[in-house]
Amino acid sequence: MSDILIKALSLSRSYQQGEGTIAVVASATFSLLARDRVALVGRSGSGKSTLLHLMAGLDVPSSGTISWPALGPAETLLPGKISLVFQAQSLLEPLTVSENVALPLLLAKSAVDIDAAVRAALATFSLENLARKLPEELSGGQMQRVAMARAIVGNPSVILADEPTGQLDQQTGHALLDALIAHLEGTNTALVIATHDPSIAARMATIWRIERGVLVESADTSEEI
Ligand SMILES: Nc1ncnc2c1ncn2[C@@H]1O[C@H](COP(=O)(O)OP(=O)(O)O)[C@@H](O)[C@H]1O
Ligand SMILES: [Mg+2]
Repeated sequence: MSDILIKALSLSRSYQQGEGTIAVVASATFSLLARDRVALVGRSGSGKSTLLHLMAGLDVPSSGTISWPALGPAETLLPGKISLVFQAQSLLEPLTVSENVALPLLLAKSAVDIDAAVRAALATFSLENLARKLPEELSGGQMQRVAMARAIVGNPSVILADEPTGQLDQQTGHALLDALIAHLEGTNTALVIATHDPSIAARMATIWRIERGVLVESADTSEEI
């Protein structure tokens, strides 16, 4: 079986704007492998969220190709094989924290002990005390941590996290990343984090920089950022 989880060739996504089209992601070519740790960095509006949505199979390219050699067709990816942590608040309001975290397991008809898996995912991010709360009772930062717990609960092959520390102060953001990295230690899961924060990006092995839709640089942080 292929080790390549996600493979993009000249991947582009354009939108109609007035008379013309604007390329939000322009001709991106890359592969994501098991255990990769990638920071996707770039200014607001540079195309980070669009690229993550394409990688999750949630959006369709305007040209070029994207495929998931080790995972299968686009419609089978979410929520079991790939977890996407949305930039915007995405917890379901009528459900408790525990019920929100259980959702990927229910949707994927997982055979695991759901209560035990949810408790473990909550414990990973020190959320045990919030298990019975509703989203409206949480701070923005707590919601982001619950969304991360929901992303790990099903042991996906790929986690795509869209600015998961955006609502957190830097110390709490790093604590979230510590917990996530510790949890993923020894697994084959690949992690891609879109972030504005250079100190968060510096903790990933690889940096993909995106400028106006163009992936302009892939740096290895063991050398320099
Ligand atoms: N559905 C859409 N229709 C038109 N333009 C869009 C749409 N989604 C995103 N864009 C535009 O694409 C650009 C990149 O957006 P996005 O991927 O959200 O960037 P980032 O996540 O880096 O802030 C922005 O200029 C945004 O306005
Ligand atoms: Mg975004």
